[in-house]
Amino acid sequence: MRILALESSCDESAAAVFDGERGLLAHEVFSQVDLHQIYGGVVPELASRDHVQRLLPIVERVLERAGCFGASNVEGIAYTAGPGLIGALLTGAALARSLASAWGVPSIGVHHLEGHLLAPLLEPDPPQFPHVALLVSGGHTMLIECGGIGEYTLLGETRDDAAGEAFDKSAKLLGLSYPGGPQLARIAEQGVPGRYEFPRPMLDRPGLEFSFSGLKTAVLHAVRARSTLSEQDRADVAHGLQEAVVDTLVVKSMRALDETNLDVLVVSGGVSANRRLREKMSVAASQRGVRVYYPRLEFCTDNAAMIAVAGHARLAAGEHDSPAIRARAQWPLASLRPPGIL
Ligand code: KG4
Ligand code: ZN
Repeated sequence: MRILALESSCDESAAAVFDGERGLLAHEVFSQVDLHQIYGGVVPELASRDHVQRLLPIVERVLERAGCFGASNVEGIAYTAGPGLIGALLTGAALARSLASAWGVPSIGVHHLEGHLLAPLLEPDPPQFPHVALLVSGGHTMLIECGGIGEYTLLGETRDDAAGEAFDKSAKLLGLSYPGGPQLARIAEQGVPGRYEFPRPMLDRPGLEFSFSGLKTAVLHAVRARSTLSEQDRADVAHGLQEAVVDTLVVKSMRALDETNLDVLVVSGGVSANRRLREKMSVAASQRGVRVYYPRLEFCTDNAAMIAVAGHARLAAGEHDSPAIRARAQWPLASLRPPGIL
């Protein structure tokens, strides 16, 4: 089955064409970073307006690149139906539902986080089920036991900020422009190890919950302690923050593997692009004989290829939505069912 997929849950407009036999045929992502940068964060109304303008031209280009021209070559459409910014989600949902109606093909609303979880299935050596997944994005930090597609048991999540937020908010305090996570990671490479030691939140307690909001306060105190910050000071703080977040994620992931008795780990979501996280996670995993899988870098952050994988599994199993255009700002991951089971 060949499908078109759309992603518009936040500030990336993306489309992909995926074939059940041949895999990913084409994909494109447009990031709205320049649009939101002067505001220091995503402005939902501007995001929606920009998706409306961008999505259809992107769809036309991916269809052309995949060699599909219109209805006769596309057998289904998947789109991100939540969670996310409701206005932004509705732009993708409306386009997907309208194209599906015009072409007479089924369409399905995909859970954005299921997309992130399944992104490593796009790789030539995909992870096996069951496995533990660490999902680390701008809005979520979760440990999940994945029994199969649509079988997700939440093991633990953050009580406050997500790991990506810890990076982004700390980056803002260091004067880096939005979205600061990747920039903070870049300057952290020049940082002197050990000059700033930040707390490893919740590591002293049992359980698989996270809490990252205290870290930005610790960074704030470090920044305020000096009247001016040199480039090196900034790099040192960034290094300390990155180590604290990464160590916390690694220790809790290993704990989740112990508790579930599983030996396969998936790390996905925007923060899984972080080099230091991959480095430390891979070392810890190999010491325990655990295999760890990551999406390729371009599929860590938001994209439509991952929505295509999740949507294809469901459309191919005969699932589809009613013609109403629906999106959900909130949508618990654990409420999903395996493909074809409604
Ligand atoms: O998955 P994603 O694209 O969007 C959400 O669904 O939230 O994740 C975006 C998050 C942002 O917080 C961004 O700063 C973070 O991922 N991120 C990184 C890196 N690349 C993206 N954080 C740390 N290091 C990176 N290399
Ligand atoms: Zn995402």
